[in-house]
Amino acid sequence: MKTKRRAVYPGSFDPVTNGHIDLIHRSAALFDEVVVAILRNTDKTALFTIEERVAMLEQVARKLRNVSVTTFDGLLVDFAEHIGASVIVRGIRAVSDYEYELQMALMNRRLSSKVETVFMMPAETYSYLSSRLVKEISLLGGSVNGLVPPAVERRLIRKFKRVADPAAPIAGRSL
Ligand code: PNS
Repeated sequence: MKTKRRAVYPGSFDPVTNGHIDLIHRSAALFDEVVVAILRNTDKTALFTIEERVAMLEQVARKLRNVSVTTFDGLLVDFAEHIGASVIVRGIRAVSDYEYELQMALMNRRLSSKVETVFMMPAETYSYLSSRLVKEISLLGGSVNGLVPPAVERRLIRKFKRVADPAAPIAGRSL
């Protein structure tokens, strides 16, 4: 009997963008199972909590039967081995991504010979899209329509309400 090929798609997903979603769909068509794994980072620089990021990704993946969402900490290769994933999926948007991704892939290969990294390209429409830019645009009151799912856009607007609407009261400040 053919063994199922499980892939892990790791990242920060702060927040998930349409570029990530494009890659989730592409990898779900390629592998038997795809585990989207959000790094539980101890540094507090993320905009969205881990629970919020899980919720956003679960909503995105709810119609894909072979995609699940989870979190991990520690080494990615240890997590991949632990869940029986033989492939790490990473997206490459432009040449600028390549150097960092190559370094990470080769380091992961050194750490584990059981896990192979596969680079995938999102649709060219998303080649300039990043979570960082999405946050910056939204913070400054710009529209991220078409760059993230509508539910994520709504969450961004809620997060940045204070900045987008200067008249809104700042939490904790007595007026
Ligand atoms: O979306 P990101 O921030 O580019 O994802 C980076 C991620 C989570 C894939 C990377 O930071 C990672 O794998 N971290 C886990 C710790 C680890 O294994 N480090 C060694 C990598 S060579």
